[in-house]
Amino acid sequence: MKFYKVKVEEREELGSYTLLRYRWSDGPVEPGQFVMARAAGYPETLDPFLARPFSFYDYDGEMASLLFEVRGRGTALLDLAPTIEVTAPLGKGFRIEPGLGRAALLGGGIGVAPLKILGRRLDAAGVPHDVFLGFADAKSAVVAREFQGAEVATMDGSEGTHGTVLDPIDTLEDYGAVYSCGPNPMLAAVKLAAGENSLCQLSVEERMGCGNGSCNGCVVPVRGGGYIRSCIEGPVFRAEVLAW
Ligand SMILES: Cc1cc2nc3c(=O)[nH]c(=O)nc-3n(C[C@H](O)[C@H](O)[C@H](O)COP(=O)(O)OP(=O)(O)OC[C@H]3O[C@@H](n4cnc5c(N)ncnc54)[C@H](O)[C@@H]3O)c2cc1C
Ligand code: FES
Repeated sequence: MKFYKVKVEEREELGSYTLLRYRWSDGPVEPGQFVMARAAGYPETLDPFLARPFSFYDYDGEMASLLFEVRGRGTALLDLAPTIEVTAPLGKGFRIEPGLGRAALLGGGIGVAPLKILGRRLDAAGVPHDVFLGFADAKSAVVAREFQGAEVATMDGSEGTHGTVLDPIDTLEDYGAVYSCGPNPMLAAVKLAAGENSLCQLSVEERMGCGNGSCNGCVVPVRGGGYIRSCIEGPVFRAEVLAW
């Protein structure tokens, strides 16, 4: 897999998350697509051995951005590196289908990341939409200020509605399209709440080894039996495809 060495042009702290911007002119970016990224230095350092997957947060044709939470070694190094290595956009993103009516965008924790570029593309396609964001606490909810008009919920009640991302919503069944990214239990709850009538698309965050379809480390169970790879066939899936 080809990696491009890019300079970090801007780095901004947003509560619990870091927003990092770099120049990207080597091809279009679809909302929901991801990059494999690591701090520059490989192969001399072999640290970390595997690059990590991150959704595109935004892209304006010139600057791409990633929003991430420091969890372990890979993200800690990304948080400090002046230069990083990224792949071209990977995977299948969210499909935008104008004509379905109003859309709901639901993000949980760092799963809010792909909703920024998605909202931008929905605006361009003339699709009206509402944004619902759920976080653990007020510190992680700081990023919500980047999503104008978003409804916020926190699990500890320190910001917005006390509860999950679904708590401020009367019903999801009136939306023509539902787009969501977050931990699997949240995605399963969104799928259930969306019912059968809307186009419901879920972006899964399975751990990835290679990002190019060769390790089978990222598979998800599908309805009817078997597994598919989230780095190639996903990470965005139509809800009815998934077994959970
Ligand atoms: C398609 C896709 C898009 C993603 N987009 C983003 C994004 O935009 N921003 C972001 O911050 N993260 C995103 N992630 C998750 C990100 O890849 C992990 O946080 C990262 O790999 C952690 O690397 P690390 O070396 O810092 O942590 P590690 O040392 O590898 O792990 C540290 C801790 O985090 C846990 N962890 C690692 N990966 C995941 C995961 N995928 N899901 C749940 N827990 C995990 C581990 O179990 C461990 O407890 C995405 C994942 C996928 C598959
Ligand atoms: S991450 Fe290796 S097959 Fe998907």
